[in-house]
Parts: sequence; structure tokens; C-alpha cells
Amino acid sequence: MNNTLDKSIADSPLPIVILISGGGSNLQAIIDRINDKTLNARICAVISNVADAFGLQRAKNANIATETIVHQKYDSREAFDTALIIKIEQYQPKLVVLAGFMRILSDDFVNHFSGKMINIHPSLLPKHRGLHTHRRALENGDKEHGLSIHYVSTELDGGPLILQKSIPVLANDTKESLASRVLTEEHQAYPKVIQWFAQQRVQLIDNRVIINNNPEYN
Ligand code: GAR
Repeated sequence: MNNTLDKSIADSPLPIVILISGGGSNLQAIIDRINDKTLNARICAVISNVADAFGLQRAKNANIATETIVHQKYDSREAFDTALIIKIEQYQPKLVVLAGFMRILSDDFVNHFSGKMINIHPSLLPKHRGLHTHRRALENGDKEHGLSIHYVSTELDGGPLILQKSIPVLANDTKESLASRVLTEEHQAYPKVIQWFAQQRVQLIDNRVIINNNPEYN
């Protein structure tokens, strides 16, 4: 597969909103690819449910609008998700990008953004949904581990897959070393997939993902 992003940027940038809860290294990778013009997207806002998430600082450093909606301030998951929908819609994104957003989403929220919300998950789904994926891969004796980028559906970490990248699990791997190598791959893969959306190459038809003009997926 050609891992370089398409440099021929003709159309207007894809407006995206990115949701985070933590360090935001994937957010940083997306910012960096926008800056070096290999990703034709515009980050309208970064929204965090954690007030001191370092990713908010990364966004501010890049002059990107930030919003904090702290879930503890809401009576219910539905009330928080409704506030989040309203906030996201203010920015009118064409794609909602979950980048380390550690919240279980209500069905109403997921359905509201059906077909236009993606997530990155640090495992080869359907293996290891949920948390502690690197530790579980080691405990399971997996020979391969990796990442998945998928549409968000109402099933936790269960939506249609767009891209997976696997790496070998090494004999001396710890959960930290494994996490670090997977994260490095995440930083390559997520901007690439968002660029596919910017190029309008990704389609969801009958719950199946079609990537146009990509020999690997035809
Ligand atoms: C990433 O490894 C991402 O795949 C994971 O959280 C990390 C966020 O890192 N997401 C999930 O586990 C979602 N189920 P980052 O804040 O440095 O981008």
C-alpha cells in the first residue's frame, strides 16, 4: 500500500470536529498533517469531556477553538450527550473524529452522527473491545496486535471497519512498549483515513465500507 497521503489538494478542506479525553497525540498527528498539507482538513473545534486534558493545550497551541463539556456536571448520559450534540453541531462538521474520547455514547448520540463519526481503537477489532487492550493482548498470548479505525455504531467498538494495521507482538514486549508501537502506527493511520474522507473516497453502503481508488480495498 502507498502510505503517503495524496498531495494533490484541490477541494476545500474537510471540516472536522475532534473529541478527546486525554493526551491528544492523535490530535497532534492530525494537526501536523494538516500543517504539512498532506491532510486537507480543517479542525473546527476540539472538544474534551476532561477539563485538564493535555490535548486541549495542543489545540490552543495550534489556534484551534476548544470546548470543555465535563460529563460530571450532567445528571444523565443522555443529558451530557444532548449538550455535546448541540456543541458539535454549532461547528457544522462533515466528520466527527473520536481521538481517545473515553466515553460510552448513547444510542441517540451515535444515531445522530450516523455515517459521519469515526473512532480509533488500539486493538485488532473485534478482539479486545473496551479498555486495557495492550495488557489483554499480552495476556492472551496474541502474536499480532494493532489498531482499528471504524465507523461508530451503537455497539461498543463495533462499527464497520475502515482500516486496520497490525504489528507483531515481540517476545520481550511489555504493555508499555506495545502501546507505544501501536500509538506510532495510529499517528500514521488516522490522518490517512481522514484524508480518504476529505477525498470523498469512503462510502458506507449497507453497513459495508467501500474505499474507492484503493487497490487494496477493491
Ligand atoms: C489511543 O491509543 C486511542 O486508540 C485510544 O486512546 C488513545 C488516545 O491517545 N482510544 C481508545 O481506547 C478508544 N476506545 P491520544 O490521546 O494520545 O491520542
